[in-house]
Amino acid sequence: MIVDSYNRVHNYLRISLTDNCNFRCFYCMPEEEYEFTPASKLMQADEIEQLAKIFVQHGVNKIRLTGGEPLVRKDAADIMLRLSKLPVKLTLTTNGVRLHEYFDVLKQANIHSLNVSLDTLQSEKFNLITRRNQFQQVYDNIQLLIRNNFHVKVNVVVMKGLNDAEINDFIEWTKHDPVHVRFIEFMPFSGNKWTSNKVFTWKEMLSVIEEKYSFLPLKNDEHDTAKGYIVPGHKGTFAVISTMSAPFCSTCNRMRLTADGKMKNCLFSDKETDLLSALRKGEEVVPLIYQSIQSKAKELGGQFTADFEHLHAEDIHNRSMITIGG
Ligand code: 5AD
Ligand code: SF4
Repeated sequence: MIVDSYNRVHNYLRISLTDNCNFRCFYCMPEEEYEFTPASKLMQADEIEQLAKIFVQHGVNKIRLTGGEPLVRKDAADIMLRLSKLPVKLTLTTNGVRLHEYFDVLKQANIHSLNVSLDTLQSEKFNLITRRNQFQQVYDNIQLLIRNNFHVKVNVVVMKGLNDAEINDFIEWTKHDPVHVRFIEFMPFSGNKWTSNKVFTWKEMLSVIEEKYSFLPLKNDEHDTAKGYIVPGHKGTFAVISTMSAPFCSTCNRMRLTADGKMKNCLFSDKETDLLSALRKGEEVVPLIYQSIQSKAKELGGQFTADFEHLHAEDIHNRSMITIGG
């Protein structure tokens, strides 16, 4: 088992397949012209499989594929099918725009539950956020999956003044569709225009929802990053993810592998451990994994605290979100 110095067992691995994306969300990508990692530096499908197997041998039982956008990778289907053979719960975070092309692969790979990012229900605003005119395709794909009994979680990054006024529109969506909306507090990453006054906290979210709906808390799993709720009578549910104002680091079970094969022990860690180079040189990878987890900080990569009002994005040393992979 991969245990850190705070006795947290790490059984959940998030693997980024690429830092490439077919959208350009401003909060995820740095503003300057961004160069995607060349293919030779990315983990190849068999390397992903080898590294995943090592993690599984050491207790990992859940793997999430992320990006960038994982489904822009040409061999995404091959990777999903390879990993589906491991004894893990396999899942995916995607921007949703290509999901219809992967419908059969998802079924073959036993992926029943997936997260789709969608920050607005207004197509004009969607263009503004993602710089791509694809709202309808994403929305239709979510509906396609829901109608076919997939468990779809919709990730909404709530940014004050941009989409906080839409929170109850998302709640209304849960009335008729079994969709699981998750409102995420806006987090700072390299070059993503974060300022503390754009954070809309989970308490603010709940008070907006309270004005229109009454809701009940759901039972959460110990490792859930989201606090779940349901409006009685609604088919779907909603949740809030309070990374900034109330971090949930004490029960963290997550590790990350970037598309270029670097292990990150925390979303906010500034250190990385190069597993891919070791694998390519035929060196031992396992000790590197344990060393990385041993140095995991107690909270938020050791870089800041929940007192985010005084935080400046420049003070945090990290990659941009697109190169980490959620
Ligand atoms: N703050 C909060 N969530 C973010 N995501 C990407 N960037 C940020 C940010 N700055 C979300 C995406 C995606 C998930 C992987 O992370 O919307 O759903
Ligand atoms: Fe692409 Fe998702 Fe980043 Fe948007 S948030 S640029 S969809 S990876």
